[in-house]
Amino acid sequence: MKSIMVINSKGGSGKTTVSVNLAAYCAQKGFQTTLVDLDPQQSSSQWLEVRPASKSKIRGTKNFNKPLKQDKNSIVIYDVPAAIYGAKLVTYIKKANMIIVPVLPSPIDMKAAKAFIQQLRSMGPVIRNKIKVGLVANRCRANTNIFLELDTYLLREKGMKYITAFRDNTNYIKSARTGLGIFEMGESATAQDREEWKPLVKWLELNK
Ligand SMILES: Nc1ncnc2c1ncn2[C@@H]1O[C@H](COP(=O)(O)OP(=O)(O)OP(=O)(O)O)[C@@H](O)[C@H]1O
Ligand SMILES: [Mg+2]
Repeated sequence: MKSIMVINSKGGSGKTTVSVNLAAYCAQKGFQTTLVDLDPQQSSSQWLEVRPASKSKIRGTKNFNKPLKQDKNSIVIYDVPAAIYGAKLVTYIKKANMIIVPVLPSPIDMKAAKAFIQQLRSMGPVIRNKIKVGLVANRCRANTNIFLELDTYLLREKGMKYITAFRDNTNYIKSARTGLGIFEMGESATAQDREEWKPLVKWLELNK
């Protein structure tokens, strides 16, 4: 079983967006996929509610301690709320094999992300050799100074892989509204997004 946690203490960085799109990708690839919504806002549960029944099945739960199948074909994705720190953060992190931290190109978000990444680092013994941490830039507009600044900063984070950058795009708004993932939407309209997801899928070793 692969356990993937999407987390950043900063609100609105794209945790739910990444979680639901990843869940849709995994389900479509034939993995037995569980989406654990730990957020009282329940955005990913709401996304699941509108997901068409015709699409690949994703199991939804709000139960952090739900017993999960340990077989090779199972993937669990945790959508974590903002503002998780301290002991709770440690408890959460211990559930993960892999962590994705989405970060927005804005001075406030980058400052908050730096502090959050510092917290992850301070859990060295928890993370070392056990949990892989990947950073994803989200809602990027190419060739803007702030994106270049974020890009440079993420590249410098040692011991954590800067995986990819997702553009700011209405496909993600559409995905949120329809319960679909971008890999389930029109191929030409989502071609660039699919390309941007490739490094993440590869890093997570989800290629089948
Ligand atoms: N790449 C993107 N392009 C366009 N819109 C995006 C993108 N990523 C996220 N959004 C939008 O930004 C908003 C915040 O994203 P999301 O809900 O995924 O963040 P979050 O980190 O889960 O927030 P919270 O901390 O409140 O749980 C949503 O309206 C979402 O649709
Ligand atoms: Mg969320």
